[in-house]
Amino acid sequence: MTTHLVQAYFTDQSENLNTFLRCAFANQPETQKLVESMRYSLLAGGKRLRPLLCMATARTFGVSEADVMPVAAAIELVHCYSLIHDDLPCMDDDDLRRGVPTNHKVYGEATALLAGDGLLTYAFELLSQPLTVPPTRQLRMVQTLARAAGPYGMVGGQQADMDAEHTEGSLQTLQFIHTNKTAKLIQAAVDMGALFADIPEAQRTAVSTYGLHIGLAFQMIDDWLDVVGSEEELGKKPGMDEQLMKLTYPRLVGIHETRELALSLCQKARDDLANAGIQAPLLVDLATFIVERNK
Ligand code: IPE
Ligand code: IPE
Ligand code: MG
Ligand code: MG
Ligand code: MG
Repeated sequence: MTTHLVQAYFTDQSENLNTFLRCAFANQPETQKLVESMRYSLLAGGKRLRPLLCMATARTFGVSEADVMPVAAAIELVHCYSLIHDDLPCMDDDDLRRGVPTNHKVYGEATALLAGDGLLTYAFELLSQPLTVPPTRQLRMVQTLARAAGPYGMVGGQQADMDAEHTEGSLQTLQFIHTNKTAKLIQAAVDMGALFADIPEAQRTAVSTYGLHIGLAFQMIDDWLDVVGSEEELGKKPGMDEQLMKLTYPRLVGIHETRELALSLCQKARDDLANAGIQAPLLVDLATFIVERNK
């Protein structure tokens, strides 16, 4: 299988996104360190999967990437905040992220904490600016992102992830963790892209389920790469899950089965689209990319 469509799309769109992100924050002399630290993590690289998924979903339904840009950027800001906080010594205590020292290693824990807070809140400022969608659908976008990122989404998942360290755990607990800490934000990226378009609710539901399935596969592969991946490609230190005794798929079912499960979720995701009659070669290819990636 190839993922050539995704690669071409990533190349085309990530430069526009990066340009937008580079200009997203105004300098303020009094808080130079804060703005610098937010930019440091945001512009260090990263696959930009969530914003590109949002754009690709909107594009599937005929909406241009330019219209989606502030929303795609808002999702990346929330994701980036989650990485900065995830790496803090009080959480996963990581030293390397996106190929460079983690935010707190460079700016200190207090600034890293504030950089995360700054990215999170600024995301909602971006999201609530005037957009090319009717206000009712824009309001749904705001709600979608808040819900996916908050206590009934990512933040809740992060708590469950920490609570499960050093425990025997169960598949049910692991599914809760993956759904909340990762899959819901990825699903939200897809949902928000679809909210740009005036489409039937049945199609919204189908792409949303696709989003959930690729989101779950994404975290399975993240766990898998923590075992089999290289620091050079990942830009983060592998082997940390075992060191922290995290509850992961490789630990519960083994590395071979982890990848098999991710592949079957990826197939489910493609079926979600096909069964709803949604022609979306780019989204199909994105699902494949998620399980075939090595970083
Ligand atoms: C890492 O996400 C954190 C998880 C939710 C697993 P990514 O693998 O998308 O990180 P970047 O954005 O490419 O750095
Ligand atoms: C992180 O999961 C999920 C969030 C940041 C919300 P991980 O802790 O597995 O992510 P990595 O492996 O550090 O990127
Ligand atoms: Mg973590
Ligand atoms: Mg981590
Ligand atoms: Mg991980």
